[in-house]
Amino acid sequence: MTGTNRQFRLAARPVGPFDDSDFELVRTPVPVPGDGEFLVKVTHLSIDPAMRGWMNAGHVRPVDVGAVMRAITIGKVVHSRHSGFAEGDFVHGTFGVQEFALSDGAGVYKVHSEEGRSLAAYLGVLGMTGMTAYFGLLDVGRLAMGDVVLVSGAAGAVGSVAGQIARIKGAHVIGIAGGPEKAGMLVDRLGFSAAIDYKRDDFLDQLRDRTTRYVDVFFDNVGGDILDQGLTRLAHGGRVVISGAISQYDNSNAVVGPSNYLTLLYRSASMAGVAVPAFADRYPEAMAQMSDWLAAGQLTSIEDTVHGGIGTFPAMLRRLFTGKNTGKLVLELEPQA
Ligand SMILES: NC(=O)c1ccc[n+]([C@@H]2O[C@H](COP(=O)([O-])OP(=O)(O)OC[C@H]3O[C@@H](n4cnc5c(N)ncnc54)[C@H](OP(=O)(O)O)[C@@H]3O)[C@@H](O)[C@H]2O)c1
Repeated sequence: MTGTNRQFRLAARPVGPFDDSDFELVRTPVPVPGDGEFLVKVTHLSIDPAMRGWMNAGHVRPVDVGAVMRAITIGKVVHSRHSGFAEGDFVHGTFGVQEFALSDGAGVYKVHSEEGRSLAAYLGVLGMTGMTAYFGLLDVGRLAMGDVVLVSGAAGAVGSVAGQIARIKGAHVIGIAGGPEKAGMLVDRLGFSAAIDYKRDDFLDQLRDRTTRYVDVFFDNVGGDILDQGLTRLAHGGRVVISGAISQYDNSNAVVGPSNYLTLLYRSASMAGVAVPAFADRYPEAMAQMSDWLAAGQLTSIEDTVHGGIGTFPAMLRRLFTGKNTGKLVLELEPQA
């Protein structure tokens, strides 16, 4: 196959909110697979808050300046010289923000769309974000039947799944999200017990009123003030799961920590992070369970799939930080765009 591969490379390490100029759109020839390799045409790009972290040198796995921006993706095998992958296979892999990628199969697995399940689901409920919700809530949060669960970033990819798993497991679930549409969706569509719109002036009143039974598990995706205020509502023995801190990712060198942390002492509570790659050996277990819940209609996959060309990538990433997405944000690539 001949032609042009468009790819975004990291051009600079941003301080504060990133600019489009922190990425460079580069055209290269489509690579040719050698023995034991295959060529993937990327069809779906997962847009993740972690990308903002990967742009910074202090991150555990920073992208090198000049390298193709990292992205978890779905793609179609279009030319194969690998015995395990055939032309036409759809595959999941970290192929980066580009239209074509070469692979030797390491870290790649095949995916199938089925009735009622899109390929994008493998980037969301059956992908990294779903795994984070599952292991964060059940293993790190040690969720128990009847617990009161508070989820921040609840209308997003991780949060929408975490809240639904808690509901399926018999918890009383309260979600925090921005705006009346998102708050309404949590209760009306996803079966949360209650929702809090943190963008309203009466956020603290809502938080207090919705958590009169106090919170056994606080699954936090947001950090900053929402984490700090949530800590004050912990029950005795409460567990805080740190999934992420999207409100802090643009504060490159000045992350704001919680000042109400002594609640952990007063309530014999604990706080622990969930780093999802640590659970990689158990992804099959979680994927099987999620698939069953999806098939039974107990779990709804909220997908925000936007069709566009690769050139829209920086604008897509910005959506996460301005709350423009609902559920899992995926860029489905349109080659001509
Ligand atoms: N620990 C892990 O292994 C792991 C793996 C994957 C993801 N994560 C973390 O999980 C969190 C959610 O990721 P996701 O992929 O599911 O993204 P997401 O929640 O689908 O999208 C981000 C959402 O965050 C909210 N937000 C953005 N800026 C905010 C701010 N300043 N204050 C409050 N809310 C803000 C917005 O929703 P609103 O409209 O409601 O504001 C936005 O829609 C992130 O912190 C991410 O880093 C962790």
